[in-house]
Amino acid sequence: MNPGKLNLTAESFAVSRQQKEGLNGHRSFTLWLTGLSASGKSTIARYLEERLHKDGIRTFMLDGDNTRMGINKDLDFSPEGRKENIRRVAEIAKLMNDAGIVVIACFISPMVIDRAMAKQIIGENSFIEVFVDASLDVCKERDPKGLYKKAIAGEIKEFTGISAPYEAPLAADIHIETNIISAIRSSGEVYEWLKLKKYLLPADL
Ligand SMILES: Nc1ncnc2c1ncn2[C@@H]1O[C@H](COP(=O)(O)OP(=O)(O)OP(=O)(O)O)[C@@H](O)[C@H]1O
Ligand SMILES: [Mg+2]
Repeated sequence: MNPGKLNLTAESFAVSRQQKEGLNGHRSFTLWLTGLSASGKSTIARYLEERLHKDGIRTFMLDGDNTRMGINKDLDFSPEGRKENIRRVAEIAKLMNDAGIVVIACFISPMVIDRAMAKQIIGENSFIEVFVDASLDVCKERDPKGLYKKAIAGEIKEFTGISAPYEAPLAADIHIETNIISAIRSSGEVYEWLKLKKYLLPADL
């Protein structure tokens, strides 16, 4: 689509993202959690959000299951449906970051190319890729929603790891091996990384 043809002109805002970040007292950014179903994305995100909230950080958890029940309920799990799912939620994350909010995004987002698109939409400096890594065997064993059981029985089509691919990140910013460490420690590792890299401070510090 050509924006010129649609007669669109981007409006400027009276209050910038930097000013909003300044008011909040911290930067805004998106933590993008990718990994197999049951790898631990939502569990880690919940612990992390609680921790950040206690620190006075403004957060929002964007979660695949929830967005697929709302804004993305018209999408399926085909490669095209998954791409559009990621495109829309990345645009939402970008808007939230523009509003000064820290986004914790939990999406299987199995394809490298779709995660690269998300990074491009959100902006390289605001996108932190977190690989929530658990082996397929461990995920099948955990199976908290009973989805692997159904997928193996052929009751769910295009299920990541069983009948649809998962492309692991090659250079994630943070790599959490949830096979090895507990959920609370996993969230602690992300929190410590954010502190170390000064993400939890105002942008000019
Ligand atoms: N280190 C860990 N980090 C996160 N979860 C863990 C860890 N160890 C064990 N678990 C357990 O693994 C399960 C992970 O489920 P969770 O719903 O968080 O996965 P998910 O990645 O969000 O999956 P989905 O893509 O289906 O939403 C939970 O039951 C959790 O208690
Ligand atoms: Mg989840």
